[in-house]
Amino acid sequence: MDWTVKHEFDIPTFVQQLVEEARALPATGKVADYIPALANVKPEQVGLALATIDGKLYSAGDAQTGFSIQSISKILGLVMAMNRVGDSLWQRVHMEPSGLPFNSIVQLEYEHGIPRNPFINAGAILIADVLVKHYSASRQAFISFIRQLAGCEQIFVDEGVFQSEKQHGSRNAAMAYLMKSFGNIEADVERVLEHYFYQCSVTLSCQQLATSLTFLANRGVHPQTNGMICSRRDAHRVNAILSTSGMYDQSGEFAFTVGLPAKSGVGGGIVAIVPGYGVICAWSPRLNHFGNSCLGMHMITRLAEQLGLSVY
Ligand code: DON
Repeated sequence: MDWTVKHEFDIPTFVQQLVEEARALPATGKVADYIPALANVKPEQVGLALATIDGKLYSAGDAQTGFSIQSISKILGLVMAMNRVGDSLWQRVHMEPSGLPFNSIVQLEYEHGIPRNPFINAGAILIADVLVKHYSASRQAFISFIRQLAGCEQIFVDEGVFQSEKQHGSRNAAMAYLMKSFGNIEADVERVLEHYFYQCSVTLSCQQLATSLTFLANRGVHPQTNGMICSRRDAHRVNAILSTSGMYDQSGEFAFTVGLPAKSGVGGGIVAIVPGYGVICAWSPRLNHFGNSCLGMHMITRLAEQLGLSVY
């Protein structure tokens, strides 16, 4: 098998074909319905974008339509927290797969309030605590960070999603209070949850997400601005944890079939990092029972296979 990235391949045509292929597949899965703001999204939308570190952007379908980034925001929160607190962060959150659904609470009790990794909800709430403690206005800092990465000031939080997340956030609140009881949450729990729900409620398109995360494919340096977003070591660490834990309970299968660090969100987005090459973002709202976009998985699998993108 040829493992090199096939640069000579007609990528624009293939990206378009993949969206058409995905649209023609029988509808499987279910749009997230735990809040009305997500349940009301048109399920048949399909977008795909590929941003390369040498500045190319290929996209097709609904790649410019904004969607709720949800758990994909956990990547950006983690990068901000790593930049602020350094290695001590890893005493408060670990880097192991959980082997449980993203919103599971059981492990937290017997592991003394230390989340398994930053990409399950408990871990992201812990990261939110770090941000609330280390920024005077953590939500503003978060949205500014995304605007900087996307090279666009017109990026906002969906107020409807934000309010609904807060109203339906009992399980996340339970996890936050449990961590607080173990002394692993320092700030006021309500402020921590506000930050967590806020970052989940940011709206971005496939094009914007793929472009924003190219620094993770480029050893921490944003290829468009040459700005250092995080250290080379931290880019490596984020990608490593994405590989084992970014697709929740389907991370093993995703590594097995696709072989890329990736993160999904219940808004139907999936980003996959191709170190040294670029970032893929696929979006379609219908989710499988793990919470990963059915068509997003399909398109990323096909693209990675065709271009030989696996890191393994
Ligand atoms: O925390 C929550 O329950 C939601 N904001 C879901 C976040 C998310 O995308 C998790 N999974 N894929």
